[in-house]
Amino acid sequence: MSSVEVRNLVKKYGDFTAVRDASFRAETGSLISILGPSGCGKTTTLRAIAGFETATSGDILLDDKPVNDIPPWRRNIGIVFQSYALFPFMTVADNVGYGLKMRKMDRDQIARKTDDALNRVGLPDSHLKYPRQLSGGQRQRVALARALVIEPAVMLLDEPLSALDAKLRDEMRFELKRIQRQSGVTTLLVTHDQEEAFTLSDQIVVMNNAVVKQVGSPREIWDNPNCAFVADFIGIENILPAERTTNGVRIAGHDFAALSDAAPGSDIMAAFRSSDLELAGDEAGQFAGQVVGEAYTGNYNVYQVQTGLSEAPIILKTGKSQRLSGTINLKLAPDRIKILERD
Ligand SMILES: Nc1ncnc2c1ncn2[C@@H]1O[C@H](COP(=O)(O)OP(=O)(O)OP(=O)(O)O)[C@@H](O)[C@H]1O
Ligand SMILES: [Mg+2]
Repeated sequence: MSSVEVRNLVKKYGDFTAVRDASFRAETGSLISILGPSGCGKTTTLRAIAGFETATSGDILLDDKPVNDIPPWRRNIGIVFQSYALFPFMTVADNVGYGLKMRKMDRDQIARKTDDALNRVGLPDSHLKYPRQLSGGQRQRVALARALVIEPAVMLLDEPLSALDAKLRDEMRFELKRIQRQSGVTTLLVTHDQEEAFTLSDQIVVMNNAVVKQVGSPREIWDNPNCAFVADFIGIENILPAERTTNGVRIAGHDFAALSDAAPGSDIMAAFRSSDLELAGDEAGQFAGQVVGEAYTGNYNVYQVQTGLSEAPIILKTGKSQRLSGTINLKLAPDRIKILERD
């Protein structure tokens, strides 16, 4: 197993920059996700690590050694592509054993390793089936087995679960985590699904528009997104232009206490989750609002509330038994306000 590091990676296609100065590191045995919207440069980054793209500048390091000049087949990397194309006219066993055959391993050894890989992904009895005879989730497992069987030092998974329906995807998430932990292989997972990234990863790299916006543990990113893009991407509903004051933030002329060491006066965004707003009595409220929209889900109620803080209504979430209407008073605890860079 090895660590993987991307250092100041730039990838240009002609005038177009697909990856701009990306840096991050996956420690040996860890699972790191690259999370971001379509077109932000996730697959390009993965392909550069695999060696299918040459970096315009910057370095790819495996175990702290630059591998820019090492061809893909000598990097000891297992890959599951975005469309996990299995060979349709080969059996499951032949699909899984293919990489070993290419490496000229003898037949008994191939059979043994293929059995082992199929056991690991929970498909012990599918050797003689063809891909068309398998469900989406089973094909996914075969693709994983095929990548695992060569005992790679690093696994690259490009949206491996995106072809599956929601229920299967949830199941496969747990499977993937189990397989990764058991094999201990350093894994880079590309996804645009934030829940997938949060449930599976040791570290998350958030990308947008060819740029790495933030690198951190799921907890760090959840608690302290560093810019409006990341905050929005992880589902923080209320993100408003603000100014820094000496002991808090000013949003549209309203002052709030907030915990931050950002310099006063700098242009920032203030963000808070819909569930972080509290209802208050007349005296204790910090600002008032008018309920202008509502939606009831099974577990909670969501309200749009027009306030003086922003042109668009802010979003408030309450328990399902709490019904609101008309004018309400709200407050925000200082530790709930996140201060973000504008981007
Ligand atoms: N070979 C290429 N030539 C020119 N432009 C390319 C090439 N490959 C990718 N791009 C462009 O680079 C950008 C990043 O592409 P990439 O495939 O890395 O995105 P992605 O984050 O994986 O998106 P998705 O979630 O849709 O798979 C896109 O705008 C894409 O059109
Ligand atoms: Mg992609």
